[in-house]
Amino acid sequence: MTRVLSGIQPSGALHLGNLLGAVRNWVVDQHEADSFFCVVDLHALTSVQDPAALRDNTLQLAQLLIACGLDPAVCTLFVQSHVRAHTELAWLMECTVSFGELRRMTQFKDKSDKAEFVSAALFTYPALMAADILLYDTDRVPVGDDQRQHLELTRDVAIRFNSRYGDTFVVPEAAIPKAGARVMDLQQPSNKMSKSLDSPQGTIGVLDPLKDIEKKIKRAVTDTDGEIRYDPATKPGVSNLLSILAACTGRTPEQAAEGYTQYGPLKADTAAAVVDTLTPIQRRFEELRADPAETARLLAVGADKAASVADEVLGRARNAIGLLPR
Ligand code: AMP
Ligand code: TRP
Repeated sequence: MTRVLSGIQPSGALHLGNLLGAVRNWVVDQHEADSFFCVVDLHALTSVQDPAALRDNTLQLAQLLIACGLDPAVCTLFVQSHVRAHTELAWLMECTVSFGELRRMTQFKDKSDKAEFVSAALFTYPALMAADILLYDTDRVPVGDDQRQHLELTRDVAIRFNSRYGDTFVVPEAAIPKAGARVMDLQQPSNKMSKSLDSPQGTIGVLDPLKDIEKKIKRAVTDTDGEIRYDPATKPGVSNLLSILAACTGRTPEQAAEGYTQYGPLKADTAAAVVDTLTPIQRRFEELRADPAETARLLAVGADKAASVADEVLGRARNAIGLLPR
C-alpha cells in the first residue's frame, strides 16, 4: 500500500486555503493510502513562540484536523515532537545535506529577510523536514507548490545517503495539487490567502464566526465589468469566488459560473456554500474542544503508531551510517 505523509505547522489559525488546498485532499488520501499526518511543532520553533500559545495551537490544530475529517482510526495523526526519532534523524540529515544546498532554499531567503531573529534552525529546517518524510518510508508527500523545493532537497538527500551508505531510504515523490485549489485573498485577489499576509478582511479562518464570513465574502473585491466568468488573469476577484464556490460544491469553476449574471447572487451563494462547508467542522471542533483529554489520548495512540514505524527506519539509518549499536 502506498505510504503518504504530510505535515502542517501549528502557527496561526487554519484558513480556507489550507482547508481547500491541503487538508481536504488529506481526508481523501487517508482512505486510499497508509497515511501519516503530523503537526510539526518543532518546525514552528524555528521562529520565536510564546510557550503557552504553542501548546494551545498544537492541540487546537490537531482538533481542527480531526474536525475537518482526518480520522485517527483511519490515518496516523500525531505531533512531531512526540516521536523522538524526528530530531535524531534530523541530525543525520544535517550531516548529509550541504551548506550550499540549504543556502539555495528560497523559503529561507524569504523568511530570514523578514525575521528580526534568524535562528540556526530556520536555516536547517529542510533537514528536519527530510527526516519527517524519510522516517516513514514515504512514497508520496501531498504539499503545496511552495514546498516543491524542500521536497526536491529531500529526494536529493535520500539518494545521497543511499549511495554513500547503502540502500536505506525510500525516495519520495511530491504530490502537488493542480492550480484551482489555490484560494486567494478576498481583498487582494492577486495574493494567496495566507496567515502571514496580515489581511483579516481577506482571510477566512476555518473557525471564524459564520456571520463574519458572510460579511467578508459580501465585501470581497471584484471588478467593474459586471461579467461572470472564470478568468483568473483578468478577473482575479470573481474567479476566486468561483473557485471557492466550486471547491465547496464539488464542481469546476466553469460549471460554478453557469447561470450567474450578477455579482450579488454569486457572493450570496459562495457565502452559503462556505458556511455549509464550515458549519459541521466548527460543530465537531467545539465537541473536541470540550474534551481535551480525549484528543490527548488520540494523539498518544498516533504517536505510538508513528514511533513504531519511525524507530525501525531510524535504526536502519543509524546502522548504515556507522553508529555503534548499544
Ligand atoms: P501554510 O499555511 O503555508 O503552512 O500551508 C499549509 C498547507 O496549506 C500547505 O500544503 C499549503 O500549500 C496549503 N495552502 C496554504 N495557503 C493556501 C492557499 N491560499 N490556497 C491553497 N492552499 C494553500
Ligand atoms: N514545511 C512544511 C510547510 O511549511 C511543513 C512540513 C514539515 C511538512 N514537515 C513536513 C510538509 C513533512 C510535508 C512533509 O508547509
